Amino acid sequence: MPTYFSYPEPALQKELKTTAEAIVAPGKGILAVDETNEGIGKLLAAVGLQNTENNRRRYRQLLFTTDNLSEHVSATILFDETVYQKTDDGTPFIELLKKKNIIPGIKVDLDAVPLFLSLDEVTTQGLDNLATRCAEYKKQGCRFAKWRCPLKIGEHTPSVQAINNTAQVLARYASICQSQGLVPIVEPDVLLDGDHDIVRNQKVSEQALAAVYKALNDHHVFLEGTLLKPNMEIATATVTALLRTVPAAVPGIAFLSGGLSEEEASIYLNAINRVSLKRPWALTFSYGRALQASVWKTWAGKDVNTKAAQLELLKRTKANGLASLGKYEGGSATSAGSKSNYAANHRY
Ligand code: 13P
Repeated sequence: MPTYFSYPEPALQKELKTTAEAIVAPGKGILAVDETNEGIGKLLAAVGLQNTENNRRRYRQLLFTTDNLSEHVSATILFDETVYQKTDDGTPFIELLKKKNIIPGIKVDLDAVPLFLSLDEVTTQGLDNLATRCAEYKKQGCRFAKWRCPLKIGEHTPSVQAINNTAQVLARYASICQSQGLVPIVEPDVLLDGDHDIVRNQKVSEQALAAVYKALNDHHVFLEGTLLKPNMEIATATVTALLRTVPAAVPGIAFLSGGLSEEEASIYLNAINRVSLKRPWALTFSYGRALQASVWKTWAGKDVNTKAAQLELLKRTKANGLASLGKYEGGSATSAGSKSNYAANHRY
């Protein structure tokens, strides 16, 4: 049943592919700092600070001004407000990141909302004016986007309704991003929540990913100019599920940390890069909590702690950079925040 379609113009293909490949360059990964204002508010409250625009800016300035951050960080995911913020000396964050050779990207989903008549499942909203928003972010200097769709494992979930909806929403999002010159990071997040076993998780991940790549193909998404951001579990199960479902045309897979502790997230990624299975894509990190837990703990909202907090960030980015090459020695990077970062129904 051949239907008419066309590929993106060669110049657009080249741009998207170049960006996607640069994000997953060997030994590098993504620093995710796209917490919503509500999400970062909880972290600020924990260090005794009010959830003001300036405090959100101060914290993110600490991250972006870290010396040598680009050694293991290729890109960072921003939240809308952060795109327009500046350092104390008036340098726009985006300019600072570009100077450091770190690619700015943007979270474009507008959060999860209930799927009517499902068993407590969700969809993700934000498609309506997405092309306009992407064009604006591109103009500001962003080169990629991210959109997260969570799927819950329960006795009767994820449902066919949720899996198909996730696939369609992510495919439409990816297509719109590419139309505006942004690389879409496609994030179907099969949540850790629940008491299911690894076999169930693997099978659900395979079903979700198979549906996502069918939909991406149906929407003519140019796979070489995309990245995948999935959940991770035990290494063999994770790589097996990916091998069965993710085309080798995809340049890279950057995992979310999903509530694992900082050390666990490094150990899991390292193990994934050491399994003796085929691995046709770069396998790296796109961590939020697993890169920042120690930073928050050390900073504690006080300027005098900035340097020490930045060193914590460098420790974790280095650990994960090495893990993306399968060269991390567990326990070699002792960090201030070694606890689990798990929270049920976590919202970003
Ligand atoms: P975590 O690593 O905290 O799960 O964040 C991943 C994410 O999607 C943020 O962009």
